[in-house]
Amino acid sequence: MHIVVTGKNGQLAHELAQSIPAGVTATFLSSQELDISNREAVHTQLAQLQPDAVINAAAYTAVDKAENDREQAFAVNADGPKHLAEACRALGIHLVHVSTDFVFDGSANTPYAPDAETSPVSVYGHSKLAGEQAVTALLPSATIIRTAWVYSRHGNNFVKTMLRLMADKPQLGVVSDQTGAPTWAAGLANVCWLAARKQPAGIYHWSDAGVASWYDFAVAIQALGREQGLLQTAIPVNPIRTIDYPTPARRPAYSVLDSRSLCQTLGVSQVHWREQLRNMLNQL
Ligand SMILES: NC(=O)c1ccc[n+]([C@@H]2O[C@H](COP(=O)([O-])OP(=O)(O)OC[C@H]3O[C@@H](n4cnc5c(N)ncnc54)[C@H](OP(=O)(O)O)[C@@H]3O)[C@@H](O)[C@H]2O)c1
Repeated sequence: MHIVVTGKNGQLAHELAQSIPAGVTATFLSSQELDISNREAVHTQLAQLQPDAVINAAAYTAVDKAENDREQAFAVNADGPKHLAEACRALGIHLVHVSTDFVFDGSANTPYAPDAETSPVSVYGHSKLAGEQAVTALLPSATIIRTAWVYSRHGNNFVKTMLRLMADKPQLGVVSDQTGAPTWAAGLANVCWLAARKQPAGIYHWSDAGVASWYDFAVAIQALGREQGLLQTAIPVNPIRTIDYPTPARRPAYSVLDSRSLCQTLGVSQVHWREQLRNMLNQL
């Protein structure tokens, strides 16, 4: 099986590159090699490569920057998946598209099912929802996987930022009134490979098991980071409110995803986020 992965330099694509399954040949394309917002380039590349499936790991993920960069966020997150879906439909290719918990407004207090009502509260969330809608309309057989709070040893993410700040600062305040589920990109990569091969149609959710606030996550990063010798001293980590840490983009207060339907469909189990954090820190 030949699978094309877009967004080669991102967190998810790095983990996909580390875990190519036996029997799969993969072609990874960076934004320079394939700009998914360029309709013609998408059609030409996929027609040339003729893969069996595409995993779209490319996205505009700068959530705060997107508030003032709507055009580019929509070009990548809405037009990009649209072009991929069009080309995949024309060429008979399966598409696995990755989306986000930010399609929800966060007003729930139990895990969001894949068919829960969407209502984004940020430009990024709106752009990702538009991408999902384009894929569903053009290619209903595509697999859409929403995920959340992704981190890996590559790229910029909360875990690496916390480790850096915890080594440099005397104390830290971390938001405690946003709840979600941290998700290791390596587990997400495994699920994407399975989805590219089993090709289930529709919208699914994937995160690691358990729930946490950013504060809980930070405390665990410090504890496990110290256990694994990545941090020498412990600093005070204080819970703060979202209102005391203003950001340009609003974020859902609650965005735990219900991943059960994907687990059943692919025959996989979730691992608790704390275990996955330990696994990731082991790699640093
Ligand atoms: N990170 C999270 O916490 C999170 C949470 C929920 C959902 N997700 C979703 O999960 C997926 C993977 O996220 P990630 O964390 O791996 O993202 P990431 O590390 O930011 O990587 C995204 C990649 O997309 C590439 N890209 C940007 N514009 C492009 C374009 N026009 N054409 C082709 N490639 C382009 C970027 O390339 P350059 O390096 O060249 O800019 C970058 O390498 C995305 O769909 C994201 O929306 C992420």
